[in-house]
Amino acid sequence: MIDSEILEKEILNAVNSASDQDSLEKIRIAELGKKGRISLLMKELSNLSNEEKKEKGSKLNNLKNIITNSISEKKEKIENIELNKRLLKEKVDVTLPVKAQQAKTGKIHPVSQVMDEITEIFGSLGYQIEEGPDIETEHYNFNALNIPESHPARQMHDTFYLPDTNDKGEKLVLRTHTSPVQVRTMEKGEPPFKFISPGRTYRCDSDQTHTPMFHQIEGLVVDKDTHLGHLKWTLETFFKSFFEINTIEIKLRPSYFPFTEPSLEVDVLCDRSGSVLKVGHGSDWLEVAGAGMVHPEVLKSANIDSNKFQGFAFGLGVDRLAQLKYGIPDLRTFFNGDVRWLNHYGFSFLDIPTLSRGLRK
Ligand code: PHE
Repeated sequence: MIDSEILEKEILNAVNSASDQDSLEKIRIAELGKKGRISLLMKELSNLSNEEKKEKGSKLNNLKNIITNSISEKKEKIENIELNKRLLKEKVDVTLPVKAQQAKTGKIHPVSQVMDEITEIFGSLGYQIEEGPDIETEHYNFNALNIPESHPARQMHDTFYLPDTNDKGEKLVLRTHTSPVQVRTMEKGEPPFKFISPGRTYRCDSDQTHTPMFHQIEGLVVDKDTHLGHLKWTLETFFKSFFEINTIEIKLRPSYFPFTEPSLEVDVLCDRSGSVLKVGHGSDWLEVAGAGMVHPEVLKSANIDSNKFQGFAFGLGVDRLAQLKYGIPDLRTFFNGDVRWLNHYGFSFLDIPTLSRGLRK
């Protein structure tokens, strides 16, 4: 029979030097398993005398307990070491910067951006939004706005005529301005009116400051005693908000539109001396809108009694305002569909520094 003390030392050494769960389990099986050394020694006890059985039996039991305990202690140690290793390896560094977005995202076109900004400003002033068709009848585009067939003002608009007429035999045009929505909307309801109408407009024209398709926002306010002072305040308030400046000087220049009387053109004071055009101060004037008091003939076209109601109208050039606010020199580039241009001048959905998301660059 092997000396139990030597055996104890040998096994405890082996347990101590085990470095992982697998080798520890191998030791357990080799010593304490069914066919393990200790188990075999236990079996051999049956051949001994009662006295020897007692003595050696208790020594073996003792040894078995010592080994069992040391294996479970070692097991716990190895588990702890392995856990710590995993914790170190699997740690997430929350301070790492987020990976640049892989997927390509689109940009908001400056026209859409500026449309949103303008709409939002007039929305906060209590204006409704109305829309009209891009393909318009001669009636709404001209006649109802006091521009009859023979009127020289028709030449002001280089109109795209459609080859076909509508089912009432009326000539059709691509609308040359958003003003037809004035009459269309007034016909539908009863005064007072206070709305804007954004949309696409078309004229046979193309150079650095004109494109065959462009955008306008029409404004109309009709009530019992709406006057020119209201128009001036509205335009000033709008331009201050749009250009994000506290003071603005505007000039109302006498002009002519058949559908307003008096008619005026609106200029804003600006500084063109530096590389960036600055609105609000300086010594230059820039035309930004057409406006005036609604002509009684226009109210008549919409069956509104011009003795009881009066109002003002204005038409803003959206693309022009986008050029001014965001410093985009050539209008034609707006509609070339060049993605590089859009990446440069477009707006990200996530840049939201102001109320209406416009970012002064
Ligand atoms: N419809 C005019 C244009 O396109 C602008 C305008 C609108 C002028 C409303 C006066 C009133 O030039």
